[in-house]
Amino acid sequence: MKGYIKEDDIEKVREASDIVNIVTDYLPLKQTGINHVGLCPFHNEKTPSFTVSEPKQFFHCFGCGEGGDVVTFIMKKENLDFPEAVRFLADKAGISLEEAAPRDKEMEEKRSKGYEINRDAARFFYSNLWSGNDPLSYLRKRNIPDKVIKQFGLGYALDSWSSLHDHLRSKGYDDEDIEAVGLIGKRSKGDGYYDKFRNRIIFPIINSKGRILGFGARALDDSMPKYLNSQETYIFNKGNNLYGLNLLNKFSNKDKIILVEGYMDVIALFTQGINYSVASLGTALTERQAKLIKRYGKEVYIAYDSDKAGITATEKAVKILRKQDLEAKIIVLDEFKDPDDFLKAKGRKEFDKKIKEAYKYIDYRIYVNKEKYNIDEIDGKIEFTVEISKDIRELKSPIEKDVYIDKIAKDMNISKDAIKKEVYGNTRKRTEFTREYISNKSQIKPEKTVLPSGDLMAEIDLIKLSLYDREFYDIISEEISLEEFNSKECREIFSIVNALYELSDDIDKSIISEKLRKLENIDIKILDNILNSKMNFLPENIDQIIEDLIYKKKMSKLEARQDFVRERIKSLETKKDKSSEEEERFLEFCLELIELNKKINLNRTEDGR
Ligand code: CTP
Ligand code: MN
Repeated sequence: MKGYIKEDDIEKVREASDIVNIVTDYLPLKQTGINHVGLCPFHNEKTPSFTVSEPKQFFHCFGCGEGGDVVTFIMKKENLDFPEAVRFLADKAGISLEEAAPRDKEMEEKRSKGYEINRDAARFFYSNLWSGNDPLSYLRKRNIPDKVIKQFGLGYALDSWSSLHDHLRSKGYDDEDIEAVGLIGKRSKGDGYYDKFRNRIIFPIINSKGRILGFGARALDDSMPKYLNSQETYIFNKGNNLYGLNLLNKFSNKDKIILVEGYMDVIALFTQGINYSVASLGTALTERQAKLIKRYGKEVYIAYDSDKAGITATEKAVKILRKQDLEAKIIVLDEFKDPDDFLKAKGRKEFDKKIKEAYKYIDYRIYVNKEKYNIDEIDGKIEFTVEISKDIRELKSPIEKDVYIDKIAKDMNISKDAIKKEVYGNTRKRTEFTREYISNKSQIKPEKTVLPSGDLMAEIDLIKLSLYDREFYDIISEEISLEEFNSKECREIFSIVNALYELSDDIDKSIISEKLRKLENIDIKILDNILNSKMNFLPENIDQIIEDLIYKKKMSKLEARQDFVRERIKSLETKKDKSSEEEERFLEFCLELIELNKKINLNRTEDGR
């Protein structure tokens, strides 16, 4: 782990790394006019849509939407984070980066000492395994072949209070350093230390760079606790890591990734040739882990334990993954406790089937709740339907909503209308009127603008286009001003985009994403949408697209106002004893509605819609 890279150095590296040169190290490019094209390395394709612009020093794939500069390319291709990618390119270009600040250096030394101690400890545990009978026969009983034991670096902590400590001291490490990585603890009485892991199978937790961060340790029998893990230390943060990442990095083709609960699940899957699973280390999935998952697999499957805790954890994990724009599928294990148990009983082929049959979240919710409620009874049926209606409400596509409403109606023998009311009824999209009404009532202003989603989508797309090309930005900024963005997020981002284009003709997404993440009170989901997801446009009709988006935005603003005014009129109309002030407002609204209708109709005819 090295320190901070100076901004100047990053620029130097960018300048020295010509994108066409770098990309051709990975794939052949052909020059067509001003651009170079090739087969996209980030998705499967037969006709080249991966475009590299030498003058702009940018790449973009019109097939999958990936794009960025030379650093982004290396980040994606080599699976590195930003500073790592800069270092990688600096090495290539023969640029030596300025040394990290002295304080960072100290921390760096401390860390590498920690990794070293852990490595020596892991070697010690590993050698213990082969000299004892019990631990080895335990692992063999659990069907783990020797080769897999080696690949995971499994080991054994002797049934002793000091063997590890003695061993590490003989290697010259200080007590404080050994204690700092959590391998030994201070005795509560008297002096000295004791080994934390005793008489346990050891699972080293290794990161993608092959560094040992900490250990999991399982009892050989039913003694409690079943698992002991390294405490959180300066090199081990559970929520930042996943068990199995090192092997996944090495073996997986990164198409699929399976998220499981336990060490033994990862190992059992790997033993059966499924080399793309990771465990979330016994904690609820964190956002950092979700981000790691995103780096290692396009399709995400969750195969947590089938007990109640596993179901709750699955539902939470789905929501956390959604924040990363990942829609996970769920592997249902029937009567088996976990993937390890399933494989032991049914084998690889049946598990493959389970992967293929993995449930979409809504289907999983139906499956789980059918078990939970007694749907043979009328009460259970109602409870089940009310519960699932909430899930249906969250589906994005209206068609999908309808399909599921239909399905549940048939399944439960309840009228489609009733379910529809349940789904759409209570929380119908609030008009600006009801929002204002509610906020006046409670005297609390809503924090975030609730926008018609079409409007927000248009704003997001406009910003994506602005980021993609200076020319698009110029067209857009001519047509629309900063204040016209309705969403606070988009306004903030567009103002940053404005500022960056003041400075230069090209903006780098990795820089902008850094800037954006520093903003407070921002909806991360919108940011991620702008920065990460694909752009589904073809470059030929870009002008038309921009025009459409701006039209959509302007119209939806007018229409929202129209809704609001209509509601206002309606409520004032029926009010019996209007004050003179209310009378006046009523008239004002009527006039405004006439104006709005005119504008909207004019827009529609001008546009030929
Ligand atoms: N876990 C833990 N501490 C515990 C219990 C569990 O850290 N006291 C974590 C471990 O990572 C464990 C996972 O939660 O692998 C799942 O726990 P559990 O289902 O109880 O264990 P299994 O993985 O099924 O372990 P085994 O098959 O060895 O019994
Ligand atoms: Mn198990």
